[in-house]
Amino acid sequence: MLESMVDGKHLEILKLLKKANGKYVSGEKISKNVKVSRAAIWKHVSGLRKYGYKIESKEGSGYKLLRSTDQLLPWEIKEGLKTKFVGKDIHHYTMIDSTQDLAIRLAENNVQEGAVVIAEKQKRGRARVGRKWAAPQGGIWLSTILRPKIPTAETTILPLVVSLAVGNAIRKECELDAKLKWPNDITINGKKVSGILAEMSCEADRVNYVVIGIGVNANINVKKLEAAIKGTEGYYGATSLMKEVGKEVNRVKLVRRILRELEETYLELEEQGSEIIIRKWKEHSATLGTNVTVALNEMCFVGKAIDIDYDGALLVKLPDGNIKRIVAGDVYVRMVKTKS
Ligand code: BTN
Repeated sequence: MLESMVDGKHLEILKLLKKANGKYVSGEKISKNVKVSRAAIWKHVSGLRKYGYKIESKEGSGYKLLRSTDQLLPWEIKEGLKTKFVGKDIHHYTMIDSTQDLAIRLAENNVQEGAVVIAEKQKRGRARVGRKWAAPQGGIWLSTILRPKIPTAETTILPLVVSLAVGNAIRKECELDAKLKWPNDITINGKKVSGILAEMSCEADRVNYVVIGIGVNANINVKKLEAAIKGTEGYYGATSLMKEVGKEVNRVKLVRRILRELEETYLELEEQGSEIIIRKWKEHSATLGTNVTVALNEMCFVGKAIDIDYDGALLVKLPDGNIKRIVAGDVYVRMVKTKS
């Protein structure tokens, strides 16, 4: 984790450079404001450059911020983050095995609700149903810890809460028509752009914690991604925000928006219950009204996705007219394109 290499002085210098809006700030001014020697400024600026900030230095003029960083650094995300608790504590890694695994360890150690683990890359990213998740540089790979005050039996709604929030964030920040594929995928033009993994620890009647993993193919080269994941079970096509928008997206802004939408939707669930979540989720559903193939353990059946039940289960009408409830878990739902 690089975070510890940055201290208050680095951030004060960065603040001054940002405030100057692309103009030079003299060494003298920095030295006076931040109370560091001229030699120390140079060291601190070098430190900032390691985080991807493009800073020019010119004899007689001082220092100028040419370009901010694209890294998902805690102090960048927190700047202007409008949340009460989600993202107040952010752990950033340039490389990690899985943000999910560290978040689970933090949750076991009673870290506060809303703490976030975020990484530029994951070596062993995990997806649902024990699959692997490709997580190269350019994506958004984060996990956050929630401690919902709801009965264990009601946690089945959480994947819908999170996918609704992430879908909202993508729609608002990237102006894309993000749709929700039951139970927890976000798609654009029928291809997967984001997936959610919810893992929890609970007692019979009480939830200890839920670790929510969010993966978004943000600035990812789709051809390379496809080559890595094509053929894996459950694959139905992948896309990235960069591909859909036609240029790189601002990942820092998108993370901020995801955290804010997540907190708002989560509080909505706690305050108003699941009905409003399901109503909003249905407004953006890509699944309802389509014919689906459901693979459940060794069994496979087809039917039409007709509704979402009170707890988030998918209701599928079978060819014989019977309605089957599908609970997210070890289940894979493929939408089938038909003419009817
Ligand atoms: C899925 O679509 O099956 C869920 C994918 C979840 C991926 C995210 S990336 C951040 C977090 N860390 C992981 O190892 N997995 C989740």
